[in-house]
This record gives sequence, structure tokens and C-alpha cells, in this order.
Amino acid sequence: MDVPPFELERFFAEYEHEADIMLAESGIRSLPADRFDLDPGPLGYVIPTNGDPALRAEIGGRYGRNPEEVLLTVGTQEANFVLFQSLLSRGDHAVVVTPTYQALHSLPETIADVTRVDLEPPEWTLDMDEVAGAIRPETELIVINNPNNPTGRYHDPETIHALYDLAVDNDAYLHADEVYRLLDPDPDPPVASLGPHGISTAGLTKAYGLAGLRFGWLVADEAVIDAAWRWKDYTTISPSKIGQHVARQALGEQEADILAENRELATRNREIVRDFLDAQDLDWFDPVGVNGFVEVPPEFESSEAFCREFVEQESVVLAPGAAFGFDGYFRIGFGLPTDELREGLARLESFLGGR
Ligand SMILES: Cc1ncc(COP(=O)(O)O)c(C=O)c1O
Repeated sequence: MDVPPFELERFFAEYEHEADIMLAESGIRSLPADRFDLDPGPLGYVIPTNGDPALRAEIGGRYGRNPEEVLLTVGTQEANFVLFQSLLSRGDHAVVVTPTYQALHSLPETIADVTRVDLEPPEWTLDMDEVAGAIRPETELIVINNPNNPTGRYHDPETIHALYDLAVDNDAYLHADEVYRLLDPDPDPPVASLGPHGISTAGLTKAYGLAGLRFGWLVADEAVIDAAWRWKDYTTISPSKIGQHVARQALGEQEADILAENRELATRNREIVRDFLDAQDLDWFDPVGVNGFVEVPPEFESSEAFCREFVEQESVVLAPGAAFGFDGYFRIGFGLPTDELREGLARLESFLGGR
């Protein structure tokens, strides 16, 4: 099996370590570890290896599901990985809404036949007729990332319900990667709460600012969870003990404060970016979350040329839209501390002005 390079990760790997400012991170700035109790006791495996039953019950409750319908994972990435491995086989078909986080189409493409349905700029709307037209008898899965990385589009509940009904009518599942969902101050119900054909993946990386914790989850019906757990025996065996210990606190007594702080930062920084782009006469779709997809200034021949020239001159990383299959755009991540954001934007202004 051949898996294509993860283009955005490869691009970041060239620059991220050396650059002064990371203006392309898709999540909110990271929380300090000392905000949490960091002693989980003996560092054995988490037993049972699908995750602490009480925490699975707590997370399942958020979706109207029982603990047997939850698998705790090492990040959202693992939740997505074991889901695709367990649900798709050669000969199956999946419909993936794009642009999206590359794993959400590249992994299914290594296993099954995939039809990508592009969102339509400038509002990044989803054409339901196109999704319906892509469905085949062997379609097993419809995949969406909501809110969407890289555009920041948060599809409304009517669209998500229509997708869910389409999955039900075709005896398929609707999978939503909802890792950005709680950055919205007024989030819609998650897909796994819509019924047995709904599957949600999420984690603490983006909305909580805990990427290094590597903690996520998969919520689905029991048959899917059992099959995914079987895959997990071959990936990471159990969730991380420290990850689970901190997750209990982040999802428990600290949750309200963490989400309030992060949403406030996201709102403040979004306004700063909006004003900046207006002043620079650059177009974007006003996003939910902390990712914006901005049109590349016309004087650059490609998104990669723009991002490379900028980082090499100003030591600030942006993400080329080409990594998402949309070369006319770049992704800006504005979840970083506000003073760093201001510095990054000042350098972008001087870069654009100096041409
Ligand atoms: C849509 C989406 N899903 C999953 C991930 C990875 O999440 P985690 O760090 O929780 O594995 C990302 C990271 O950018 C993402 O954008």
C-alpha cells in the first residue's frame, strides 16, 4: 500500500522549526502543562485499552451514546485512521467533501474508491445534488470536516441533516471530523448524535489547545467501534495514560474556562485579521474557528511561490492552498497569542508593500 506524502506537513517540516512566527497553525495556541495535575499514578497502559469507562460514558453522553459506542484514541488522527481502516475495504466507495484535511481523503484513497466533491467558493457551499450524484451502491461512507479546515466554513444543521438522510437512504454512514466544533461559541449538535448512521471524531487538539496531549475519540455504533478497536490493537494499543488523565480535567472542571478563553482569543484575533485583510484588499470567507482561506495576491504565480517567498524573506509561515488542491489560496492560522499575530501581520504588510 502506497500513501502519498502529507503535503502540508512536508511543507511545514521545511520551515516551521526555524521560522520566527507560525501563522499557519490550524488550532488555538497551546495551554501550559502546569495548568493541570500531571500525576496519573503508575504509567502502565490504560486498562481497558479502549479507554476509561467513566470517561467514555462522559464523552458518549455528549452524543447521546453509551460508553460502548466510544473509543478513546491518540489524537483525532488515530480516530480517523482506525475508522477508515475498519469501515472501508477494497471495492468500497466513499464520498469526501473537499478541500479538507488531507488525511480525510488520502487515507480512504489508499483503501477504496473515492469521489471528492468540492465546496464552491467564495462561500464554500456544499452542492447536495453533487453529493447525491456521487453516491454508488457500494458507497460506505460520506466524509465531511465541520467546521472545515482550511476554509473555516461551518455547514448549517440543514445541510448536515440532508447529508445524514442521504447516508441513511443509501445504507451508508456520515462521518464528520468535528475537531474544530467547540471553537464555535454556539455549536450545532454533533453528527453522532443524529442517529446510528452518524459517526463523529474529535479531540482536544484544536478547540482546547492541547495538541501535544495527543488525545481524541471516535463515536459510532458498537459494530464500528468494535472493528476500530481491533485496529487500535495494532496502532497504539491504548490511549496515553497522561493524555487521559489531563483529558479528564480538560473535559471536567476546567472545560468552561478553557473554552471561554479560547473562544475569546479566536474572536479577538479574527477581528484583527479581518481588518488587516480589508486594508490589504485581500478576500477571504469569514471563518468559524481559527483558520482562514485567503486569496493569493494576483502578482504571485502560485500559492507555494507566495508562501515560500514570504517565509524566506520574513520568517513567517503561511500554508499554501495547493496543499489542499486550491492553488489560488493560502491558509492563515490566527489562533496564536495576539501579540505574535500582530507581528506576523506587520511582516506580511511589509512584504506585500515592498513588492
Ligand atoms: C480536520 C482535522 N482532523 C484531525 C487533525 C489532527 O488532530 P489531532 O492532533 O487531534 O490528531 C487535524 C489537524 O490539523 C485536522 O485539521
